[in-house]
Amino acid sequence: MTAKKEWIDVAIDALDKAYVPYSHFPVGACLVTKDGKIYQGLNIENASYGLSNCAERTAFFKAVSEGEKEFSHLVIAGHTPQPISPCGACRQVMAEFCEPSMPVTLVGDNGVQKEMTVEGLLPYMFTDKDL
Ligand code: THU
Repeated sequence: MTAKKEWIDVAIDALDKAYVPYSHFPVGACLVTKDGKIYQGLNIENASYGLSNCAERTAFFKAVSEGEKEFSHLVIAGHTPQPISPCGACRQVMAEFCEPSMPVTLVGDNGVQKEMTVEGLLPYMFTDKDL
């Protein structure tokens, strides 16, 4: 199995673990560090809806809280007919921790894929260089 196929499987596996009693819209993520470690993410909702955390940010917060700051790839999976589109907040978190050229693989149902980059998802992004 190729590394990328394994990362896609990790993101798809997360769909079953997502805590989505309100939206019934599971999202899974697999964040890969530059030294090949994998952090799985899934969305975690709350009865106070606004507290819900997206799959991508779960993966980033797990990784960063373990001391990781160097990432090489992100896979995001959803039960969507087209490859899932990450929300704006998660794009901004990607911009914080990833190089603009970092690949992001979006996966929909039946394995349909779209290859993007962080910069492709968030052009003219706001970063620490703007402060
Ligand atoms: N969601 C994610 O987990 N990632 C995204 O990029 C888009 C939205 C979640 C949030 C909420 O739990 C559900 O999808 C419906 O909005």
